[in-house]
Amino acid sequence: MDKIVALCKRRGFIFPGSDIYGGLSNTWDYGPYGVELKNNLKRSWWKASVHNRDDVLGMDAAILMNPEVWKASGHLENFYDLKVDCKSCKKRFKVVDLKESNKCPECSGDLTEPRQFNLMFKTHQGAVEEEASLLYLRPETAQGMFVNFGNIIDSCHLKLPFGLAQIGKAFRNEITPGNFTFRTREFEQMEIEYFVHPDEADKKLEEWIEERYNWYINLGIKNENLRKREHSNDELAHYARACTDIEYKFPFSSAGESACGGAWSELEGIANRTDFDLKQHAKISGKDLEYFDAESKQRFYPYIIEPSGGVDRAVLAFLSDAYSEQEVRGRKRVLLSLHKDLAPVKIAILPLLTKRAEIVKLAKDICGNLKKQFYCVYDDTAAIGKLYRRQDEIGTPYCLTVDVQSLEDKQVTVRSRDSMQQERISIDQVAAYFRDKLGQD
Ligand code: GAP
Repeated sequence: MDKIVALCKRRGFIFPGSDIYGGLSNTWDYGPYGVELKNNLKRSWWKASVHNRDDVLGMDAAILMNPEVWKASGHLENFYDLKVDCKSCKKRFKVVDLKESNKCPECSGDLTEPRQFNLMFKTHQGAVEEEASLLYLRPETAQGMFVNFGNIIDSCHLKLPFGLAQIGKAFRNEITPGNFTFRTREFEQMEIEYFVHPDEADKKLEEWIEERYNWYINLGIKNENLRKREHSNDELAHYARACTDIEYKFPFSSAGESACGGAWSELEGIANRTDFDLKQHAKISGKDLEYFDAESKQRFYPYIIEPSGGVDRAVLAFLSDAYSEQEVRGRKRVLLSLHKDLAPVKIAILPLLTKRAEIVKLAKDICGNLKKQFYCVYDDTAAIGKLYRRQDEIGTPYCLTVDVQSLEDKQVTVRSRDSMQQERISIDQVAAYFRDKLGQD
């Protein structure tokens, strides 16, 4: 994990938040390549979950919601951790992490009695900080989709089964954030709420578990690092009847986050939320949220199957999985073998001789043309060996070099990241060549 954290800082993926002020406990800022990777990941998810399907539509709800939402959802009553404080070193721990010990794991000091700690961040709207202006930052994006169920039915005329998909920030006042971006207080979720007839819920749950598992595999996660794990009854959230986690074998140095120990930890959960949420919102809001089935003339509350993943955890998993070190001609080569769809930069254009103005111009012209279709960068700030190493470390699938010969034979050299093979390509063929290799960006 230390190597991943170091690479992320060195190569502009992820920086410690508020770095120049000494940081702010486990907050992270995505730099230029981090944001490209994250955007590519979200785009891939949106394409697979919304655009490539006929039964899922997207939406984007507000982060701030009427506090009644959190009463209905059960978050005000149930969304808490039990915590204890060490009376000596003052550190705070989750009771579940203490594994039945009643001494501080850091200094063996005495612990306070367990206290409930609600994980929702509070804030106030408007000028006066009083009880009536109290709001919460959403701890999950899901509720924005449940409260719009009626609006979607009325405006989009959908028939069951159908889903809503959303990507957005969520906030939880975690007691023990850590393990880089794995557990933070501000993070992004990508969630689908799939509404089904109750009789179909079990079947659809299985289908979504497969679909979501395959999404990670198809984007390059190694089989041996990904697994499914069904929740035991005592692990289930207050709203869920069944849940299977997709777990990744994160390279944590410490004991790990997983309920079953080790580095295997939750990447995404796929839950059967039953009709809990729609019934609760109908009850508290007084609005009719039943679905009317025109064929059977029945009215009922659909069940909800929810694949809920973390964007930041997925970025961390893809970075960890793609990272490798190799020995090439006696030198260490750090390589990020990201899937082409996720790679922050698709092609780096590198002139071999910057003293020759014609070479620089030709390289910049090629870059300008390719940029119309792919995210490319032009770089002439170091010798070619160093430029290749830089691009290998950020996972750029292709480097294109322009040399003296290019001026005469109108060809350039294309180097592939993974094989390090080089081939000469005619300049008027490069766009077609990359379309073939990379697909449309
Ligand atoms: N709507 C259901 C829900 O929110 P969850 O298991 O609490 O379920 C879903 O969260 C996903 O959100 C997790 O699988 C994880 O990827 C991500 N996530 C949850 N808490 C997180 C945190 N503190 N930091 C980063 N990601 C988090």
